[in-house]
Amino acid sequence: MHMPSMHLIVTDTREEAVNRAAGFIAGLVAQRGDPVLGLATGRTMEDVYRALVARHEQEGLDFSGVTSFNLDEYVGLGPEDVRSYHHYMRSLLFDRVGMPSSHTHLPDGTAHDPDAECAAYEKAIREAGGIDLQLLGIGDTGHIGFNEPPSPFDSRTRCVRLDRQTREQNAAMFGNDPDAVPDRALTMGVGTILEADSLLMLALGSAKAEIVARALEGPVGPEISASAIRLHPRCTVILDARSASALSPQLRAAHA
Ligand code: GLP
Repeated sequence: MHMPSMHLIVTDTREEAVNRAAGFIAGLVAQRGDPVLGLATGRTMEDVYRALVARHEQEGLDFSGVTSFNLDEYVGLGPEDVRSYHHYMRSLLFDRVGMPSSHTHLPDGTAHDPDAECAAYEKAIREAGGIDLQLLGIGDTGHIGFNEPPSPFDSRTRCVRLDRQTREQNAAMFGNDPDAVPDRALTMGVGTILEADSLLMLALGSAKAEIVARALEGPVGPEISASAIRLHPRCTVILDARSASALSPQLRAAHA
């Protein structure tokens, strides 16, 4: 398999991995002033956003020119619902670094016409000039965004059905009841994600080790949507030692 130029960083600790990821984003914000950031949710990203808020408060990192597009939102949850990704983003980042709602975008999970909403989301990304840096986590099913298997690599923003495994993974915000987790979401497609100018994936902890190894070393294809990042010419993957623990010595050595 042709491996363009994935840049793999493995840190000893979780804190270092988070700081590297936050530093990467902060560097672009400081250098460009007005980048278009693709943002992600999930527990992994909470510490990244805390680190960015700290840089804003302590070093004056200025987010006033930043535009953002998030990967996904649950169907049926409005922006005021505390379990929505809208709420997650406002409370962890946007409100804390002074990003007005006119600069931030997430798909509307309550849209009456989800297909029209998804098409409008794609159009808004294009009109903003495309995404400069897309931040990514990885789900237990190997998803990026909510691109459950199989997700074609040319898929666009659309409504998807969530796997049982994903609803179990994300049940903490829903009273630990997987059945209470919405069974559908609006997500950027794999094709949408691959159009970003650069990609930054972050995974933390031993629970991610196996799926990270499958994504980075298994077959590239729609069964593991995260494997698509290996086709991108500018992709950085940051792992802590635990999430990197199932990688082959060969891959580790190639990126040492
Ligand atoms: C959700 C998001 C994904 C994210 C995943 C990882 O499923 N839609 O974008 O990668 O969570 O979650 P966590 O960081 O909590 O493991």
